[in-house]
Amino acid sequence: TSADQVPAVVVGSGYGAAVAALRLGEAGIRTLVVEMGRLWDAPAGDGRVYCSMTSPDRRSMWFKHRTEAPLSTFLWLDVINRDISPYPGVLDRVRYPGMSVYVGRGVGGGSLVNGGIAVTPPRAYFEEVLPGVDADTMYGSYFPLANRMLGTATVPSAWFESTEWYAYARVARSQAQRAGLKTVFVPNVYDFDYMQREAAGTATKSALGQEVIYGNNFGKRSLDKTYLAAALGTGNVTLHTLSHVRAVTQDTDGSYVLTVDRIDDTGAVTATDEIACRSLFLGAGSLGTTELLLRARETGALPRLSGEVGRGWGGNGNVMLGRANHVWNPTGSHQSTIPVMAIDAWSDSKNPVFAEIAPLPAGIETWVSLYLAITKNPERGTFTYDAAQDTAVLNWSSGQSAPSVAAAKALFDRMNWANATIYRHDLFGDTRAFADDFCYHPLGGCVLGRATDTYGRAAGYERLYITDGSLIPGSIGVNPFVTITALAERTMARVLAEDDVG
Ligand code: FDA
Repeated sequence: TSADQVPAVVVGSGYGAAVAALRLGEAGIRTLVVEMGRLWDAPAGDGRVYCSMTSPDRRSMWFKHRTEAPLSTFLWLDVINRDISPYPGVLDRVRYPGMSVYVGRGVGGGSLVNGGIAVTPPRAYFEEVLPGVDADTMYGSYFPLANRMLGTATVPSAWFESTEWYAYARVARSQAQRAGLKTVFVPNVYDFDYMQREAAGTATKSALGQEVIYGNNFGKRSLDKTYLAAALGTGNVTLHTLSHVRAVTQDTDGSYVLTVDRIDDTGAVTATDEIACRSLFLGAGSLGTTELLLRARETGALPRLSGEVGRGWGGNGNVMLGRANHVWNPTGSHQSTIPVMAIDAWSDSKNPVFAEIAPLPAGIETWVSLYLAITKNPERGTFTYDAAQDTAVLNWSSGQSAPSVAAAKALFDRMNWANATIYRHDLFGDTRAFADDFCYHPLGGCVLGRATDTYGRAAGYERLYITDGSLIPGSIGVNPFVTITALAERTMARVLAEDDVG
């Protein structure tokens, strides 16, 4: 428990954290990245780093006895989830009373488990959500920079039109068109050259091998291959894994002191370290960063933190649903796990919806069209500190998801009417058509310009920065990681130019 002192610490290793680590390292500042998950670089006994989605093992989930996949049943049968032994696996489902939140665990955070969809939000909506941020600079500099660094690309259209692996997206597109809805290609960070080699049989299948939410063994440009590789390459950045930051306080000399539990593969705490730093960058994600700061404020460790910490949370209006197609409209037993197309009805003033056309890569024909709808839900949740459990609890009632369901239903009722189809009621464990009790896009908790200044500097403290999805007030209208990355780039440029962080 000796207090090691480093100039800068970054907590977490997702998008916001990875940007901070790279830009600090490039500036010559010695930086320690502290991540609770493991490094996913070594093949296990089966020769694979990650397990597959169809036969998941302990690598799939963060200390669970059974997998908790978003689609829990098929024809109401519990055929999807598997018993596993607890392990620091790559996907976590954090359960709160009215909402559960999927997050990635490991070096790379959400980039290890997500679909790679890399969308820059429509400028008008970005300005509406974050009016304090100069949109000219974002759209002129930071969004292009983020996309370049992340390796964003669009599926080659000729291949998309011809491959069996995207038949499901083409079916969903023609049905959308029949309903008078617009579809768009959505960019992705997956390597489409690699995917075409998978299809040709000359590369090991990953996106075409039913891999995604428990990690892609090949093809995906996750952060460990982009920002984090570059950060480590500066020679100034080091990484501690299986290191869970439990508490943050401030020393009399102004440095921050972190209490860090080192855990082993069973989750047992093997040591507790104290790490001191001059500057602290929080990139533990909407849940992680909000919990650390809420705990610090409520326990009196950092008492001057804003009353806004813990407020302004939303799940980006996420709703998942499936439609049942006619037998003459098969969606294919071969489906790429990487989504490349969406229904863009965001300009519908009454029910704005941006719905990603999602795969159901079951390996058999299901006739299902699956969607992750992003809706404009004005409801916001609040985190409260549970002192007895020493955790942050998200207060989100099931009724708060109703606006999301209403918007998705309006759009997909229209789709079903135009195509004479119906919803699937067998996918989410009971008979619901709309899954509104989990989300992939947790946003907010430490909102930019409220809990922080307009650059992510925590109100009330010096050299304490927030760089992740907790800055975005609950909604961004598209899949969020490009926005998180671009905002982090903007924060780091400003902070390294103006503040004495080293
Ligand atoms: P992020 O959650 O990425 O990283 C936080 C990191 O901090 C994690 O590695 C965590 O383990 C670590 N951490 C947390 N608390 C800690 C503590 N106390 N101590 C140490 N470490 C701690 N988005 C998108 O744009 N396109 C997409 O296709 C998808 N698809 C998708 C699918 C699935 C299954 C999920 C779960 C999510 C998506 N997303 C997505 C969402 C996207 O992945 C998400 O918005 C970003 O990863 C959030 O980035 P952050 O930097 O905020 O944190």
